[in-house]
Amino acid sequence: MLQTEHPVLRKFYYPVIPMSELKDGPKPITMFGQPLVVWLDEAGKPAAAVDRCCHRSAKLSKGTIRNGSVVCPYHGWAFNGEGKCTYFPQSKLENPPKVYKIKAYRCEERYGYVWVALEEPLTGIPEFKRFGEPGFRQIHEFYHVVNCSGLRMMENSFDNAHIAFVHHNTFGDNNDPIPAEINLVQNEWGFEMFSEINVTNKLNKEVKAINVESDETVRTTHSRWFMPFIRQTDITYPTGLVNSIVTCVTPIEEGSCMLTQFVFRNDTEEQVPAEKVIAFDRAVVAEDLEVLESTEPNVALDVTQRLETHMYSDKPGIVMREMLLKLLESHGERETLPQLNPPQLYKMEILDPVKEQ
Ligand code: FES
Ligand SMILES: [Fe+2]
Repeated sequence: MLQTEHPVLRKFYYPVIPMSELKDGPKPITMFGQPLVVWLDEAGKPAAAVDRCCHRSAKLSKGTIRNGSVVCPYHGWAFNGEGKCTYFPQSKLENPPKVYKIKAYRCEERYGYVWVALEEPLTGIPEFKRFGEPGFRQIHEFYHVVNCSGLRMMENSFDNAHIAFVHHNTFGDNNDPIPAEINLVQNEWGFEMFSEINVTNKLNKEVKAINVESDETVRTTHSRWFMPFIRQTDITYPTGLVNSIVTCVTPIEEGSCMLTQFVFRNDTEEQVPAEKVIAFDRAVVAEDLEVLESTEPNVALDVTQRLETHMYSDKPGIVMREMLLKLLESHGERETLPQLNPPQLYKMEILDPVKEQ
């Protein structure tokens, strides 16, 4: 699947920028290869439109804001959140001509981020567990580009088998490579997964303060996948600490995404400063990216094509492939399969982990 090639993937909301980054004017973002300008209107609500003036194609993100409209830096035309030209300084006409307009997109503020859907969304912005729950704080962690595909990033979040290898310097144990069991329950727009994962605490003393008192503990996890590229992993430790991580990957181009991550926690800034929480998760994500950015961005959804091999613990990633393939097919779309070099077809019997159960 080439992530920017499928119109159906544009029918979801994605976070595109933290609200705090819009305070000083319009900003450019790119999603699915489409450059957009994002800004705040008079009421402080976010707006998004194509980052191209209909007059001479200047980038509106280089402009300013006037009465809630984005003002083109070239000749000063201003456009509101519906894309309508609201001000046309070269004419004394009260209303600018109707043809002066740009394409605007559905845009909402949620959880402190701007969410955009390029097409009529099939489902809403995910309702995250812990949001607004008494005793929980929200910490913004990351907003940066990652050079891998959204699906590779997503399946990694549900992959218990990589922890012992990729994370052996932070919370994994490479002497214990057997992945924790999972219980996976599908729903209309994704799945829920439950797992008890034994983890270590190797990074440093500061990190120890974040998670647990001892060197080893167990994470009781309730993870949710929201199609196509959002997950929440709600982790409860034996101490009662809850660390609930939300990871969103918004495709920019093939092979690149904007990673937005934030957490909800039921401790306080005095107990564990936000910067220590961020430092730990930054170390963990850096370990993942070291590997993920080496993977091929075009992921074959159709496992019967025998372009990858699988093992039993890959079930979440296989369910993702199956559900995404169904989504594509139900919208009349077909995936472009990767070409292996040299060409190779893997054996079928190791491709169906369901039979291994
Ligand atoms: S290019 Fe935008 S007003 Fe002329
Ligand atoms: Fe990981």
